[in-house]
Amino acid sequence: MDIKRRILVTGGCGFIGVNFIRLVLQDYPDWRIINLDKLTYAGNLQNLKGIEENKQYRFVHADICDAEQMEQLFAAEQIDSVVHFAAESHVDRSITGPAEFIQTNIIGTFTLLEAARKAWLEDSWQGSDPRFLHVSTDEVYGSLGATGMFRETTPFDPRSPYSASKASSDHLVSAYFHTYGLPVVITNCSNNYGPYQFPEKLIPLVFHNSMTGKPLPIYGDGKYVRDWLYVKDHCEAIVEVLKKGKDGESYNIGGNNEKQNLEVVTTICDTLDEKIGLPASGEPRKNNIIFVKDRPGHDRRYAIDASFIKEQLGWEPKFSFDKGIENTVEWYLANQEWVASVVDGSYRDYYKKMYG
Ligand code: NAD
Ligand code: DAU
Repeated sequence: MDIKRRILVTGGCGFIGVNFIRLVLQDYPDWRIINLDKLTYAGNLQNLKGIEENKQYRFVHADICDAEQMEQLFAAEQIDSVVHFAAESHVDRSITGPAEFIQTNIIGTFTLLEAARKAWLEDSWQGSDPRFLHVSTDEVYGSLGATGMFRETTPFDPRSPYSASKASSDHLVSAYFHTYGLPVVITNCSNNYGPYQFPEKLIPLVFHNSMTGKPLPIYGDGKYVRDWLYVKDHCEAIVEVLKKGKDGESYNIGGNNEKQNLEVVTTICDTLDEKIGLPASGEPRKNNIIFVKDRPGHDRRYAIDASFIKEQLGWEPKFSFDKGIENTVEWYLANQEWVASVVDGSYRDYYKKMYG
């Protein structure tokens, strides 16, 4: 088969990366995927079970901070596209241990940019038009009050070590476009949810705790607002940006689903009560909600104006929050062994079984 793209996907064993790889291998059989992942606690090779046999797929266990290995891989695989997901992604972890965030999110992105620059901007580059797509977050824009929305032109104002590290990486990516002419595009999206999300993030955590009778912790007053984006919508947007985005441009991607955290948690509880009945206690699951100490520097509200990507590339989200949550709850109910293996840590055995 004539291969049309040779994509290096970084962090493809994490939540969004897995959903992206599954979508691409299904819809674009002539795109080759090299999935490069360090397999930190958030990387779960089990998520790609069944895909290992696909001839257009290869897994590489590596750290994006390893410059030599990145250079070799670009050359060996004639990489012409990068979709860069790899990052430390959890805000709470960035508060208790920021060092890894600086290393992977900033140094790692810099290392990849250098590898791409060396491979693509040299006279010997023979491949098709290259493209470096950097996946970032709406958190770089800081926190909104009751009104307003983030646009691509909103000044950066990151508040947590996580968002500051992502903002730094966005600036570096942009600098490589202006300084070297590296063909980059950046996406800044809102809170994703859906299958394969690590149960430290709000939605899968609430699912797991609800199923096991544990308290459902709400930070502060629970009136913090996030814009929820179903992960399939996000992955489809990334494909559009990869194919049709303009070099040097940033695209905001949102779900048009602004919700207060309390509403999100209540919706999951109510959906579960309806689908599988009340727990043994006979009490609605939402009665397990507890209000706990707030996250330091907790951003009050995020809201994405995604009109630019709609105008330019014709993308808009398809999933309402109700539909997305229903799908998500159904997926977690059908995959309780997956949740259990992630919670008890046994998901890590899969790597040993496959690769020794
Ligand atoms: P995740 O934490 O689920 O997965 C991250 C993946 O990166 C893991 O597989 C991990 O093993 C890998 N990784 C970490 N450090 C690495 C390194 N040094 N080298 C190679 N691989 C490494 O993250 P996610 O939720 O899938 O997010 C993916 C990207 O999207 C991140 O860049 C994140 O900042 C961004 N993002 C996420 C969301 C969200 O709601 N989840 C929203 C906006 C932006
Ligand atoms: O906005 C995009 C960002 O969304 C991404 O860049 C991050 O990688 C991703 O982790 C996510 O960050 P958040 O901090 O918004 O997601 P989290 O699921 O951790 O929290 C969502 C909201 O719920 C937030 O206001 C904090 C609150 N929360 C979270 C947890 C884990 C609680 O109230 N209780 C909890 O136990």
